[in-house]
Amino acid sequence: MKVRLRIQRFNPEKDRKPWWGEYEVEAEPVDRVLDALHYVKWYIDGTLTLRRSCAHGICGSDAMRINGRNRLACKVLVREALAEGRGVITVQPLPGLPVIKDLVVDMEPFFAKYRMIMPYLVNNDPPPERERLQTPEERERYDDTTKCILCAACTTSCPSFWANGEYIGPAAIVQAHRFIFDSRDQAAAERLRILNEWFGVWRCRTIFNCVEACPRGIQITRAIEEVKQAILTGRLG
Ligand code: SF4
Ligand code: F3S
Ligand code: FES
Repeated sequence: MKVRLRIQRFNPEKDRKPWWGEYEVEAEPVDRVLDALHYVKWYIDGTLTLRRSCAHGICGSDAMRINGRNRLACKVLVREALAEGRGVITVQPLPGLPVIKDLVVDMEPFFAKYRMIMPYLVNNDPPPERERLQTPEERERYDDTTKCILCAACTTSCPSFWANGEYIGPAAIVQAHRFIFDSRDQAAAERLRILNEWFGVWRCRTIFNCVEACPRGIQITRAIEEVKQAILTGRLG
């Protein structure tokens, strides 16, 4: 079938502002939007620039705005996007981050926030002979937030982040949650101190865009609420 795509284009070396490219591609209804973008790049205009790697919803590199919603291009079917867009699929880069070219945004501000929450296990006890054990219940405590693939769909869909780019954002809080509630970790207090700063969790106004955007179905607002509670009570229980 023929599929119409409107893609926001921008080449900083040539363009003074973004413009819309219109393309017609061949696709099957069960192809993904990523396949349609590949068609444009491979058969119509090789200058179209986008990120992608796994094509299976694992690497998180092809988050973009499809019909006005942040999603992974490899997880949205052409037929679904066409129905939603009434016959045309609109594709834009993620909002709230500087555009490098076409659909590629500068992820560095996003990863800078990720690094702030110390995204690694901290344990100063001498290593045991074998692994550091935890019970199934202890593992379950942070299971949901281990699913994050750092795609940035959540943070860049958050109006609090749009209003103030200093907000650490839901993705960094999700990642912090993954370590704060890990029974083997010893740096929860330091992470909670960081998240209690003016740019931290209190900037979340429970708007829920992040939950809607997350391709992994993570209960982000629940994680944020648990972090807020841990700050207020000083307990991780
Ligand atoms: Fe992506 Fe979800 Fe992780 Fe946010 S929480 S970065 S939307 S996987
Ligand atoms: Fe933003 Fe999600 Fe909170 S959209 S305001 S981080 S609930
Ligand atoms: Fe890896 Fe889509 S290309 S998540």
